[in-house]
Amino acid sequence: MAIKETLQHYQQRVDQYLDTVILRESLEPRLQEAMRYALFNGGKRVRPVLVYMVNQMLGGQPDQADAPAAAIECVHSYSLVHDDLPAMDDDDLRRGKPTCHIAFDEATAILAGDALQCFAFEHLVADDSDPARNLALIRVLSKASGDSGMVLGQAFDLSHVGKQLTLEQLEAMHQHKTGALLNAAIDLGIIASGCNDADTFAKLRQYGNAIGLAFQVKDDILDIEGDTETIGKPQGSDQEQDKPTYPALLGMEGAKEKLNLLHREAVTALESFGDAAQPLKELADFIVHRDH
Ligand code: IPE
Ligand code: IPE
Ligand code: MG
Ligand code: MG
Ligand code: MG
Repeated sequence: MAIKETLQHYQQRVDQYLDTVILRESLEPRLQEAMRYALFNGGKRVRPVLVYMVNQMLGGQPDQADAPAAAIECVHSYSLVHDDLPAMDDDDLRRGKPTCHIAFDEATAILAGDALQCFAFEHLVADDSDPARNLALIRVLSKASGDSGMVLGQAFDLSHVGKQLTLEQLEAMHQHKTGALLNAAIDLGIIASGCNDADTFAKLRQYGNAIGLAFQVKDDILDIEGDTETIGKPQGSDQEQDKPTYPALLGMEGAKEKLNLLHREAVTALESFGDAAQPLKELADFIVHRDH
């Protein structure tokens, strides 16, 4: 399958799965409506796709990866809802639609984000037949999401608006706010497959570090070179807010050179897996060449 079809296949799989597990009705249906709004709005599903691809490469069946794939997309979607809030990036467009706090209201968006995060962990361990596996899954996702992962990166981002960063600081920020969850997707895929080979973890960690950073470098480039309709979020948001980004620090050419370097690093890290890693290689190509 070419990458486009593979993406579509796994996007549909995780969407159908999420659709069956997220509640529709409760005492306060507007909450679930906002959760669904934040989830089912045309996200690329790169993190779930990574979970499925790694699981498949290591011999796992797709159903072994469903719960972790759904859980990480819930954490990611929650992070976007909060990232767009007025107190954070204050953006009004996400995935081509009004952001959650615009479509609903701020309090509902905050609560929908909170609930998506909790739901992720609740669902991650809904199957209690293998407690050791569940513990490993929780460890990975919680560490990558919180104050040593994505949330740390977001806090660092916000506290450095308008400030000049060193390259090391910028890289660390990107690795946390975006790289951590992408690496977690890989680790979840490894655990889902049942593989516990340290060498596999280490090699795929190199790949994950490279694509994790590349993903945010590309996101920063698209903020400048993309157009609002294609990227589905307001073009120029970073510049308007004087955000610390790769193009801001290195210039556009420097940012693109960095992106190419990371792409090569990612592909090199896959060499020992041979043909089995072709989907992951194509995913790296997709990440650096994507237009949204
Ligand atoms: C956007 O993530 C925010 C970053 C971490 C750079 P994605 O580009 O994966 O957004 P969706 O899920 O496809 O909308
Ligand atoms: C934030 O990065 C990534 C998250 C952890 C949500 P950005 O603020 O650059 O993400 P976009 O550009 O709004 O998607
Ligand atoms: Mg942000
Ligand atoms: Mg943002
Ligand atoms: Mg951005």
